[in-house]
Amino acid sequence: MDDVIDPKKFKLGVLIVDEEHKVLIDYLNRLSRMWGEVYPDLEREVILGLMYYVKVHFTVEEEFIKIYKYPHTEDHLKSHRDFAEKIQSFKKDLESGGRDIRGAIIDYLKDWLVDHISGTDRDLCKYLNSKGVH
Ligand SMILES: [Fe+2]
Ligand SMILES: [Fe+2]
Repeated sequence: MDDVIDPKKFKLGVLIVDEEHKVLIDYLNRLSRMWGEVYPDLEREVILGLMYYVKVHFTVEEEFIKIYKYPHTEDHLKSHRDFAEKIQSFKKDLESGGRDIRGAIIDYLKDWLVDHISGTDRDLCKYLNSKGVH
């Protein structure tokens, strides 16, 4: 399968946020590119990588939110929590073995990343831009 998301279309104008989104999008695209290939631990690598990386990324955005007193905090934080919980539940699915969840992970990542980056994060970055953060 081809890349699911082109990170160039998701530039929001805050450098560190854009760079971190590229990494998150790359996890999704890697899963998609390797669709159908025998690589039994790919899902585990992606899940563990995402668990680690979203901690870094969410911390950066949440620090911006605090420092610049962004008003729509609750929805944004809830969306981050929901994502982290879903990644945990994929990890549990993997640990309980058996079913192939590559497709489910791709679908979830695609929907969440497109929705979150192009909506929730875009609003935050517009606000940050208005405060002089680029
Ligand atoms: Fe976010
Ligand atoms: Fe983000």
